[in-house]
Amino acid sequence: MSAGLVQAAYIVAAVLFIMSLAGLSKQETARAGNYYGITGMTIALIATIFSPDSSGLAWIIVAMVIGGGIGIHYAKKVEMTEMPELVAILHSFVGLAAVLVGYNSYLDHGIILDQALLNIHLVEVFLGVFIGGVTFTGSIVAFCKLRGIISSSPLSIPHKHKWNLAAIIASLFLMMIFVNAEGSMFALMVMTLIAFAFGYHLVASIGGADMPVVVSMLNSYSGWAAAAAGFMLANDLLIVTGALVGSSGAILSYIMCKAMNRSFISVIAGGFGQEVVISSDTDYGEHRETNAEDVAEMLKNSKSVIITPGYGMAVAQAQYPVHEITEKLRAQGVEVRFGIHPVAGRLPGHMNVLLAEAKVPYDIVLEMDELNDDFAQTDTVLVIGANDTVNPAALEDPNSPIAGMPVLEVWHAQNVIVFKRSMNTGYAGVQNPLFFKENTQMLFGDAKESVDAISKAL
Ligand code: TAP
Repeated sequence: MSAGLVQAAYIVAAVLFIMSLAGLSKQETARAGNYYGITGMTIALIATIFSPDSSGLAWIIVAMVIGGGIGIHYAKKVEMTEMPELVAILHSFVGLAAVLVGYNSYLDHGIILDQALLNIHLVEVFLGVFIGGVTFTGSIVAFCKLRGIISSSPLSIPHKHKWNLAAIIASLFLMMIFVNAEGSMFALMVMTLIAFAFGYHLVASIGGADMPVVVSMLNSYSGWAAAAAGFMLANDLLIVTGALVGSSGAILSYIMCKAMNRSFISVIAGGFGQEVVISSDTDYGEHRETNAEDVAEMLKNSKSVIITPGYGMAVAQAQYPVHEITEKLRAQGVEVRFGIHPVAGRLPGHMNVLLAEAKVPYDIVLEMDELNDDFAQTDTVLVIGANDTVNPAALEDPNSPIAGMPVLEVWHAQNVIVFKRSMNTGYAGVQNPLFFKENTQMLFGDAKESVDAISKAL
């Protein structure tokens, strides 16, 4: 393939990646977005493998078969609830790849005669290894936290922000040594160790409730690591793709921070400025219980129903019977809508994916902001496996760890039914006063079994 054709293929692939991102931003076009991405990546791979700069085709194919085989195996096996873990571990590979590419292009960069170009190359190598190192260990910590291998509570070592600052200053100092010495292996290796420790500390200092932002932030870091590798390999498409992933990950993190009322800077700086708040042991009184038959009766007598799903619906895989009762109620003239909190579940868009899987029509699935004012005119709200995202303490208790997080204000409805298995807390580990309100009734049990029973009674 000629160099010109390779560049043309790269431009087509870059456009397809942009179209892919645009498609993925709406559920109606998400499938098409995926296809654009797959097509773009196929074109990119073919152009790179057959470009005049590539050699060792057999090795590339062997690596692709092994990597692709492992990827397909895990992607097929992974449960929807484990998706963030898979994403986190995949980011760690991008980070490690950037580190290896950095070392490789340091050891084997050919002859660069121009001093300025050599300096630029050395800075690229240094930054690429640094970003890759941070992404590598940060992603491994995120994986371990999500999997429960290490505690999800934030690590709080004394003077933690000073340590972070010291790591950055030491790395800058080492970069000066590295460039001045026209490449010092010692400086590069010491910086790599610092980057590994920095990545570990950065993510370990972030608490459980901020984990969604961390995963998307690591997505962003992995994009910048790929862009850095693109500079080192002089591959324009890798630079463009890395920048797209890097910036879209950063934008998504920002949107999520707003949805959780967390400061963006405080999250990316590893809990900078985070105050330690102690949850109060308030006695909220007694809760009331109900059963499937009574809920079915209540639903039949309702004119409008809003369903707010959360992580528990994903665990129970209750989306199919939820769709069933939605159709039964709609057939009886009841208005049924879904209210989706931006961080419901365990990954962005989690609930939308599950509902789309069960074929719930898109037009009745609304964002939190679109229907938060409608709860007061709603007869019945079904809170299916959601907890933190419907917790009034976020608005009413300034001492709550989730204070200020916008939530679905379900308690304004006439009746609220909460589907869960026990009085246990949700992801953020805070008690939910909603369960003790006068208009709330608890329907205990696995969400799928409860919804199935309601469906039967309907
Ligand atoms: P959570 O607050 O996590 O609560 C889920 C509830 O589901 C639990 O209280 C649990 O109660 C119940 N549950 C679990 N399995 C169930 C089953 N089989 N049947 C019925 N109920 C079941 O959920 P949420 O409201 O969706 O909030 C999400 C939380 O996760 C937020 O704090 C968010 O910040 C965090 N988070 C979000 C993301 C993203 S990007 N969405 C990523 C990581 C973390 P029982 O144990 O009593 O059944």
